[in-house]
Amino acid sequence: MSHFAIEAKQLTKKYGRQTVVNKVNLHVKKGRIYGLLGRNGAGKTTIMKMILGLIPITSGKVAVFGQNIEGQEKRIYPRIGAIIETPGFYPNLTGTENLQIFAKLRGTAAPNAVKKALEVVGLPYKDKKLFSAYSLGMKQRLGIANAILHDPELLILDEPTNGLDPIGIAEVREFIKKLSVEHGKTILISSHILSEISLLADDIGIIDNGVLLEESSMSELEKRNSKYILLQVSDVPKTILTLERQFHVKDYSVQDEHTLRIYDTSLDMGEINKTLILQDITVISSGLCNDTLEDYFKKITGGEGIA
Ligand SMILES: Nc1ncnc2c1ncn2[C@@H]1O[C@H](COP(=O)(O)OP(=O)(O)OP(=O)(O)O)[C@@H](O)[C@H]1O
Ligand SMILES: [Mg+2]
Repeated sequence: MSHFAIEAKQLTKKYGRQTVVNKVNLHVKKGRIYGLLGRNGAGKTTIMKMILGLIPITSGKVAVFGQNIEGQEKRIYPRIGAIIETPGFYPNLTGTENLQIFAKLRGTAAPNAVKKALEVVGLPYKDKKLFSAYSLGMKQRLGIANAILHDPELLILDEPTNGLDPIGIAEVREFIKKLSVEHGKTILISSHILSEISLLADDIGIIDNGVLLEESSMSELEKRNSKYILLQVSDVPKTILTLERQFHVKDYSVQDEHTLRIYDTSLDMGEINKTLILQDITVISSGLCNDTLEDYFKKITGGEGIA
């Protein structure tokens, strides 16, 4: 059994001569929240649509629950809940009535499915308010309630917090987390907001210009963003020797022929500078650095950041 809920191999989408999704290898592990992060036009929606079979795949493959979707749609799609575009709700019906219709259409068996779904997203059951009078936040919630009506194992949510205010975003984040932690759902969520993804996702994929630049766990990414001392010196090998012998430094990395990163930030830099100078090593600069996730994203997308 595959431990991936979704596995895309060399997934590619072309519109005419334009390649909008380019050989993407995506791995969404079961039971985890996977955040697909990318700026506008990066290709997030297109990837999700291909996974859901809403648009044809140009080349490559997608497996859902370890099975190629082609020819297996009827077996696989009932196990997925999705919001890609705002679903067409009836404006002159209440939220509850709308969900009751969708539940019937989908043949959802559980009698209290509507009530349960509304509960999860924090909307009142059998409320009199018509959909046309809903705020944007309520509409988004109803969309998610609709996606979870049939209790799917996998949720695909395309920018579910789009247009919400900060409180709304925090609330949606909370119940998405709950769906993962308490209900064991696997969730693929997209966003162009870094802070949102970093607060929610267990794993993250960064897409830019149709290319998946990076895929890793959030904890791994955070480690990469630890504090360090950046040391620029005239002679790196000699500096390393001194650091190892006199200061017992073990955790460091060489960035280039003049630059070192030392991850033990409790070291006395004054003392180190003095010692290096005495050894005839020129210290060009030294200082404490704290790369944030944002810096990292800027670096790998080669642009001005995402959030
Ligand atoms: N039907 C289409 N025909 C031609 N080009 C398309 C079509 N749909 C999407 N594209 C292009 O594909 C690229 C990726 O679009 P996509 O909607 O996947 O981006 P996105 O990451 O979801 O962006 P956003 O954050 O704005 O939702 C864009 O350049 C878009 O213009
Ligand atoms: Mg999109």
